[in-house]
Amino acid sequence: MENMLSSAPLPSSLPDRFILLPDQRPPASSVAVSLPVIDLSRGRDEVRRAVLDAGRELGFFQVINHGVSQQTMREMEEVCEEFFRLPAADKTALYSEDRFKRNRLFSGTIYGDRYWRDCLRLACAFPVGDTKNDWPDKPQSLREVIEKFIMPTRGVAMELLRLLSEGMGLRPDYFEGDLSGGDVVIHVNHYPPCPDPSLTLGLPPHCDRNLITLLLPGTVNGLQVVYKGEWINVDPVPNSFIVNFGRQLEIITNGMLKSIEHRAVANSALARTSVAAFIMPAADSLIGPAEEFVSKDNPPRYRPAIFGEFIR
Ligand code: OGA
Ligand code: NI
Repeated sequence: MENMLSSAPLPSSLPDRFILLPDQRPPASSVAVSLPVIDLSRGRDEVRRAVLDAGRELGFFQVINHGVSQQTMREMEEVCEEFFRLPAADKTALYSEDRFKRNRLFSGTIYGDRYWRDCLRLACAFPVGDTKNDWPDKPQSLREVIEKFIMPTRGVAMELLRLLSEGMGLRPDYFEGDLSGGDVVIHVNHYPPCPDPSLTLGLPPHCDRNLITLLLPGTVNGLQVVYKGEWINVDPVPNSFIVNFGRQLEIITNGMLKSIEHRAVANSALARTSVAAFIMPAADSLIGPAEEFVSKDNPPRYRPAIFGEFIR
């Protein structure tokens, strides 16, 4: 618990345990390229094409007019920010370094890592039902707000999967059932103001390991994405979700949809809180290149694995 950034006064200079090797630090400058913005309220043909084009070209895009209300998004941001402002005593019981705990609070300096981040991980089954009783009971509205947020957010993800399926010539419900039937895992990422963002990162370069991710980016920038071999800053449009594909979608489509590397940089002036919602396959489902994506000229590029074992 003493590792948690949000439970102690912030240091005035960056402690050694956060300092990355020189070749892992963020470069002094990076380009801002806007991610495609897809308006989901447009005609279905247009949206289907836009989602597939953006997915294939960049693997990262933003969606607006997605149907999750501004109020629901703001309440989610606010309750998550409020959670990290709670006194340390309210958070101690949630802290755990056990990777397999479904609901827990952890920090970016465990397992020998050096990242400027605290994270609250929550697992949501569908329907949410009793699983929400395992979530923190403070702030008082947290469970209700998360449930209200996660239901329609999962709906947006499922709609994107339907659009992608149609765009790729599959039946619209291709990704329904086991392929998307696991938990929705939430990471509430909290990046406090950092004494020296040039020496550390909030999150290391990584690809998400799930099926598809929707990110509520928060009001402060920090996400960077690899584009044509360079790191670009993402400057989200208001009220958008940032969408990217996880490794499982890359594997199922035999590489047609790619899971793109991304990371989060720290910021010296402002605290940032982002919320990633990860749609997961059912733990016991076997994930490999689907026959629709494999042919004599395009042999399987990935080995099938049980999702739960892949994650371990
Ligand atoms: C993640 C993630 C990015 C961000 O949680 O997997 O990539 O901007 N977050 O916080
Ligand atoms: Ni990620």
